[in-house]
Amino acid sequence: MKGKFITVEGIDGAGKTTQLAWLAEILQRHGITYIVTREPGGTVLGEQLRQLLLDKTVLMHAETEALLMFAARREHLDKVILPVLANGQWIISDRFTDASFAYQGGGRELENSKLVTLEQWVQGDLQPDLTLYFDVPVELAQQRVKQVKHADRFEQEQFDFFQRVREAYLERANLYPQRICRIDGGLSLEAVKIAVEQALQPLLKHV
Ligand code: TYD
Repeated sequence: MKGKFITVEGIDGAGKTTQLAWLAEILQRHGITYIVTREPGGTVLGEQLRQLLLDKTVLMHAETEALLMFAARREHLDKVILPVLANGQWIISDRFTDASFAYQGGGRELENSKLVTLEQWVQGDLQPDLTLYFDVPVELAQQRVKQVKHADRFEQEQFDFFQRVREAYLERANLYPQRICRIDGGLSLEAVKIAVEQALQPLLKHV
């Protein structure tokens, strides 16, 4: 049986890292074998691309940024995601293509059609089975990010950039309500945990 593909999304500071640990714990409780990975990254080449992409001293054109994100993704699919799914295991990815539509499309204002072309090229019709999108107001996310001492190339962006990223995420959540589950990341930790568990129910039913 094919495994399930779950992705986790949100603007920087939305708290997805904390929730990812909770998600993993739920799968463990259900006896599901899973792998946690991330984008950009997840492979040797992808992690090197990540270093370049997050380095604030490395300047690049917005299209170069998008192409590198998708190059890392191509490698990630080939070396990790597809083999793991074929093996019947589940895979949780900390970000995937929705992040490209949100950050490069929304944040950097790249044309959607170019991203759709890259998406089609790199992944064909493959989409996650479930995407958990942690939604928080930009003000709250920025307060959290400020506590991180060394902001990376994305984290150092300004309010308006993240506002566009958030709007693009919300737009996608509206477009794909079957796949993307919007979770209010501003709720208490306990309430968010319950929401995550609920979102997983349709996938867990078949385990
Ligand atoms: P992030 O996932 O936030 O990692 P950490 O929690 O360690 O900071 O960092 C990855 C950054 O890459 C994040 O700011 C969003 C950005 N990103 C894109 O701009 N486009 C993409 O397609 C992906 C996958 C990530």
